[in-house]
Amino acid sequence: MSKQPIGIFDSGVGGTSIWKEINTLLPQENSIYLADSINAPYGPKGKDKIIALSIKNTELLLEKNCKIIVVACNTATTNAISILREKYNVPFIGIEPAIKPAALNTETRAIGILATKGTLSSALFHNTSTLYTNGITIVEQIGEGIVQLIENGKLESKEMKTLLKSYLKPMIEANIDYLVLGCTHYPYLIPKLTKLLPKHVKIIDSGLAVAKQTKAVLKQHNVLNTELLKPENKFYINLKTTEVMESLLGKTFNVDYLKF
Ligand code: DGL
Repeated sequence: MSKQPIGIFDSGVGGTSIWKEINTLLPQENSIYLADSINAPYGPKGKDKIIALSIKNTELLLEKNCKIIVVACNTATTNAISILREKYNVPFIGIEPAIKPAALNTETRAIGILATKGTLSSALFHNTSTLYTNGITIVEQIGEGIVQLIENGKLESKEMKTLLKSYLKPMIEANIDYLVLGCTHYPYLIPKLTKLLPKHVKIIDSGLAVAKQTKAVLKQHNVLNTELLKPENKFYINLKTTEVMESLLGKTFNVDYLKF
């Protein structure tokens, strides 16, 4: 079973930021990544639709014999992971905005959260947020339009810079000292966000924590792949244009079209 792949899915190309962390920590593991770009963005969709799409992606990864599923999407995790866990007998790893470390360490008592509408409106986010942020100002911002620009290969565009500037403005005005990234597409924005934010603001991204958790759960189930053979990493997207994802991955990897 240890040779079976790690299955990873996202609403699109953003979860490759999580795949990279997993691949760096567990380079010997085989993996299958699904980018459901035809249905991106998930953020504005209702809970039922996000659950249905998450089920579809999970079933495809299970058909492909994955030993664990990483939901590399905050929106799918916060809306669907409890249902996935009930429905399937395989371990699931999710990702949600890392509010806790920001809330525990803020000195200005103000933190910013950039995430999708689906994540910010979820019960899971609401519960974590109320648990840790008593007495702290939280500036929540829906990253409307960011996922679409990244999906369309416009990471470096002027539109992106304008959007980011407008989203960060209220956070800077509230004197945040932490910005929590609540969407797996956003780590690709870190160089831009760093330029736009005051120097003292730290950016929190939970990618590495997800990779560590994946390793811990594989170990716990005794299914870490310890064989030092060349691993097979497969990337599938349900759009015929594969270039955007290939360029995010760094061009050494081939992305295949798959209808799903
Ligand atoms: N990468 C997804 C997330 O982490 C983006 C959601 C979307 O498609 O709107 O939330």
